[in-house]
Amino acid sequence: PTIHVITPTYSRPVQKAELTRLANTFLHVPNLHWILVEDSQRRTPLVTRLLREMGLNYTHLNVETPRNYKLRGDTRDPRIPRGTMQRNLALRWLRETFNSNSSQTGIVYFADDDNTYSLELFEEMRSTRKVSVWPVAFVGGLRYESPKVNAAGKVYGWKTVFDPHRPFAIDMAGFAINLRLILFKPQAYFKLRGVKGGYQESSLLRELVTLSDLEPKAANCTKILVWHTRTEKPVLVNEGKKGFTDPNVEI
Ligand code: UGA
Ligand code: MN
Repeated sequence: PTIHVITPTYSRPVQKAELTRLANTFLHVPNLHWILVEDSQRRTPLVTRLLREMGLNYTHLNVETPRNYKLRGDTRDPRIPRGTMQRNLALRWLRETFNSNSSQTGIVYFADDDNTYSLELFEEMRSTRKVSVWPVAFVGGLRYESPKVNAAGKVYGWKTVFDPHRPFAIDMAGFAINLRLILFKPQAYFKLRGVKGGYQESSLLRELVTLSDLEPKAANCTKILVWHTRTEKPVLVNEGKKGFTDPNVEI
């Protein structure tokens, strides 16, 4: 199957560095289709060129998150969903592009632009029948968060400290979905409004599966194959108000 990787992205000094690192990883993955969705009014020249030059199979989309969703308080406020409208647009694109009775097989994975992905992760998710799950490092104030898996290889809960009673206490990077399921449940999207922090993933997954459907990967969730890394904001104070370096040089 083709792995459709959905990545929301937005313009900032480290954007090209993040996307370059991501593309360098994806280039090692067979049969990968990158759906890159810019949080912007227009598809930007920077991202357009990068996609053209990297040699990946890709689809370039854009949708701007309305200001009133963004500018509330701190940028790390967990109540503000980041990348949600972009992921939903990609889900719609998949439903408009692939027919539910077509023979096209696929896997859908949400890969934020700043995380770190092992190549093994993509091989693990390829066999997803409905929804597969695995641990994610550096989330929820822990070394890693993980689904709880019993001796029979069934997921029965969540090894998290932050709200383990969420229906699906799992980070965006911790699951993949079979494309067939996305097409069979055309009403399933991430909820934009009234979603408490940490409930975004549940808002989609509860439309698609129940706990007993989940397929643990990564050696029954004992291996870490993805890291929720976050890139430090570069210090650019010496640019001053007018800018010191040549603004025509793309970074
Ligand atoms: C955590 C989760 O890992 C995200 O999947 C979730 O979307 C986010 O919280 C949230 O609920 O707000 P975190 O590292 O805090 O992630 O978020 P970012 O990496 O800053 O953003 C997630 C994705 O959205 C990234 O791919 C980023 O490029 C994109 N994004 C962020 C936008 O498209 N627009 C923005 O204004 C901000
Ligand atoms: Mn992130």
